[in-house]
Amino acid sequence: MFVRFALTAKLNFNNELSSDAKNSVEKTVTESNTVLFKKGVPKGTQEREIGRITTWSVEENTIYLFIESGTYTRAHDALFRFKKQITTALGKFRLGLRGIEISEYQINLSGEIPDGIRIPNLPFIKSYDLKSNEICLDLKVTAADLENKVPDRLVKLIEEKIQAMSYGGKGEHWDLVFASKPKPKQFTRDPTEEMVNRNWIRHGASRGQWIHGPQSVQLFRAFEQIVIEKIIRPLGFSEMIFPKLTPWEVWKRSGHAKGVYPEIYYVCTPKTRDPTFWEDVGDFFKVTGEVPIDMIREKMDGPIGGLCYAQCPSFWPFIQGETLATASLPIKVFDRSGTSHRYESGGIHGIERVDEFHRIEIVWLGTAEQTVELADKLHEAYHQVFEEILELEWRCARVTPWFMAQEGMIDTGKAPQNIDTCACDCGKRVGTTDYEAYLPYSDSWLEFQNVSINGDKYPKGFNVKIQNNEPCWSGCSGVGLERWTAAFLAQKGLDIEAWPDKIVKLVGEPNEIFKFL
Ligand code: SER
Ligand code: ZN
Repeated sequence: MFVRFALTAKLNFNNELSSDAKNSVEKTVTESNTVLFKKGVPKGTQEREIGRITTWSVEENTIYLFIESGTYTRAHDALFRFKKQITTALGKFRLGLRGIEISEYQINLSGEIPDGIRIPNLPFIKSYDLKSNEICLDLKVTAADLENKVPDRLVKLIEEKIQAMSYGGKGEHWDLVFASKPKPKQFTRDPTEEMVNRNWIRHGASRGQWIHGPQSVQLFRAFEQIVIEKIIRPLGFSEMIFPKLTPWEVWKRSGHAKGVYPEIYYVCTPKTRDPTFWEDVGDFFKVTGEVPIDMIREKMDGPIGGLCYAQCPSFWPFIQGETLATASLPIKVFDRSGTSHRYESGGIHGIERVDEFHRIEIVWLGTAEQTVELADKLHEAYHQVFEEILELEWRCARVTPWFMAQEGMIDTGKAPQNIDTCACDCGKRVGTTDYEAYLPYSDSWLEFQNVSINGDKYPKGFNVKIQNNEPCWSGCSGVGLERWTAAFLAQKGLDIEAWPDKIVKLVGEPNEIFKFL
């Protein structure tokens, strides 16, 4: 893809430019084109790739500039470099810059443009021309937009869309790492149906939500105890409580703001908590027995964010902007304080694919080496648990990193960028490993937890540093309790006699407290 930028700008001064001032402009233009705009550009770069002022003129108080570029010292970067230079130069003539107007801004992307690409519907795009080998964008931007790198982000966005479309259909990547031995099929029914039959669970009033009865919770707690005793405690993780309402501020930094919208449970706040403002709503319900949703919608602010989705992002504001002492590294924490929510729409199934679920989220951070080392220790510990305690038929595979999937990014099979910052081969380890269990009833595999090395993504996003300026990395691992339960019951069935001894001991006899008539 070739990208070209072109802009026309007006630099307005407080006074008319004298002929001496005009000479100074000419000098600054030449200097900019020959020296200033070439700073930092690799030697041998073609002239047309580098920003340059191709036309300029002066009329009364105004300098008119036409700047063109490829991808080096892009037109807007050139503009700001020139601005700095010219304000100093004309300051000598008591001329002060009053403002910059961008009268035109064009971006031209040429290369193979896939059919059906959608040009973003954004206020910055005045008009566009779309051909099979070229996209021309006519922008409506202010100098502030240019300072905010709007053209660069637009180009990146379109390039990503093109890339996504050319990789489309190839699906997410999946590379097997380990597979356990097959286990004899003890049970072949859908465990959720069986749990419902035995009143271990019942549908909640909301979509994709279950009410877990005592027997189901006994299993959850047994699994939780295994995770605590065999993984969390031996590896030295400490419990924290992460918030379960995630504001945009967090999702902007975690990357979720890029694409999680179709799956969010949105959260709104009342416009006011003045009871008289809300009186009509209650009155309407009292008289009709219906809750007036539209009336409520009008009385709300927000959405301010959504319910917990990925669990670990809400941890990061705790250390945002801080530099951590080497002595405290690696930081090892976990959270099991509440539910996660995803709008799964048609995807809901059983207890394993739901809109509301329970997960233990394990988070660690430190140097790249420490992060990778902990991930390896977790893998070892999980391996033991699934082989020796749960006796599952399971496997694990390297998959599209969860943060890329959740951002709606495609996976090209390559590790994310800017991670080759350490001497070891850690960079190759960035990504997610999914653990999957075999489901005999559907002859398929269920992803029941993951372990991820997230590289420097989160420390960068939340501006967290470590002592000595070493690159800071982090990892996380989500243990889905519904998923563990679904996997375990699908393979072992609901009769306790058929379960491994260690599990029987932890769970105890199913606690039947409801007798329905
Ligand atoms: N945060 C990770 C995820 O959402 C692990 O739980 O998948
Ligand atoms: Zn996480």
